[in-house]
Amino acid sequence: MNNLKKYIQNNKDRFVNELIDLLKIPSISADANYKDAVLKTADAVKTSLEKAGCDAVEICETPGYPIVYGEKFIDKKLPTILVYGHYDVQPADPIDLWDSPAFEPVIKKTEIHPEGAIFARGACDDKGQMYMHVKALEFMIQNNTLPCNVKFMIEGEEEIGSPSLEWFVKRNQEKLKNDVILISDTGMISNQQPSITTGLRGLSYVEVEVTGPNRDLHSGLYGGAVANPINILAKMIASLHDENNHITIPGFYDKVIDLTDAERTEMAKAPFSLENYKKALDIAEVYGEKGYTTNERNSIRPTLDVNGIWGGYTGEGAKTVIASKAYAKISMRLVPDQNPDEITNLFKEHFEKIAPNAVKVTVKPHHGGFPYVTPIDNIGYKAANKAYTETFGVPAIPQRSGGSIPIVALFENELKSKSILMGFGLDSDAIHSPNEHYGIFNYLKGIETIPLFYKYYTQMFTK
Ligand code: BES
Ligand code: MN
Ligand code: MN
Repeated sequence: MNNLKKYIQNNKDRFVNELIDLLKIPSISADANYKDAVLKTADAVKTSLEKAGCDAVEICETPGYPIVYGEKFIDKKLPTILVYGHYDVQPADPIDLWDSPAFEPVIKKTEIHPEGAIFARGACDDKGQMYMHVKALEFMIQNNTLPCNVKFMIEGEEEIGSPSLEWFVKRNQEKLKNDVILISDTGMISNQQPSITTGLRGLSYVEVEVTGPNRDLHSGLYGGAVANPINILAKMIASLHDENNHITIPGFYDKVIDLTDAERTEMAKAPFSLENYKKALDIAEVYGEKGYTTNERNSIRPTLDVNGIWGGYTGEGAKTVIASKAYAKISMRLVPDQNPDEITNLFKEHFEKIAPNAVKVTVKPHHGGFPYVTPIDNIGYKAANKAYTETFGVPAIPQRSGGSIPIVALFENELKSKSILMGFGLDSDAIHSPNEHYGIFNYLKGIETIPLFYKYYTQMFTK
């Protein structure tokens, strides 16, 4: 057994327990009630980087939650890796659907994780994956095998759209200068088949409000004679897809770059079982845009989905009422070369246009982000693939993901460097859902694979 494997073997209980401590702090960035917990988590991340042997660790204030920054500098002739991750997490609700409390981590075995998995909000997204980098750094510093310079930048607002990150990156270009950005905040195909994420979708997120009469009305006295904003909203939303599940907003697909047949054939080679997919979600049939496979629908094609819809009476029993207002939150996932601001405008124009005169409509844009596709002919990708091949015994497959990490495109524009997305999560880890978990196998494999990336990247860089 090599030093790295031995180190992980000897320290794995401590690695797991330290992560569990971090997961106990409810760092929900979306909810102001958890402000102290978010700040406490930033402190905990700072302390963990210091303990790992990082120099110049600091809490950098921003207009929002702080960014934890640290670095270990060896030699300016050597490359510099910038590690990005986030210490904030999604809200835990609906909390009733958790088998154990979201911020009281427990280890349980599952079919996919026979070695056990840690169940807690943030276990996979992203505390568990972020902390692998801290432990990998600890190993390299403690064993004098850190082959290059490293910078850490861990933010606390990723789950709310990274509102302060552009502000921070623009003001700290020199500090953040790097040769490659390394991120573990995505997934892989399975524990037997690693993959490297080569694309992320962009995002346009809007909230709509439909107003009918100026007050809630008796649904008997007024029903049938005035527009019901909830009925109207439902109709408008339904009209946003046609019978083939294409999105009907004029111009929506104008900038979409279609994949070539060769690229689609290549994509279809990735192992995937539709039967298992349906079984895991307990659905009789998949559903989506005509002419595309499930894996195409969830990665290389743009989408429009209602994320929440409300209005009227939703309490116990029945109340006969026509509400004055109805609301929905709608996300559109984007692919190259769609532009989030343009798509938001197209949506707004269209949505206002299709509204009948009987209602008023407002569209409020939330956060957005650009899509991203990374090339695979660079040393970052090659080094990552070599590292995975060594720890998993098989090469990694490039795979475009459907999720979004909007800062990746921002990093490329502002810092002119490419991001390598070395994710170790699985789709079944239930990120953003009740019972989120992260396999101990995945956690330890990540800690094992990361130092190999450093090693091979530095070798290829200096050659
Ligand atoms: N880590 C996820 C994104 C992700 C997960 C990408 C799995 C690929 C595979 C990230 O924390 C996230 O949830 N991003 C948000 C976007 C953000 C603007 C709120 C998302 O994708 O919904
Ligand atoms: Mn994440
Ligand atoms: Mn997330």
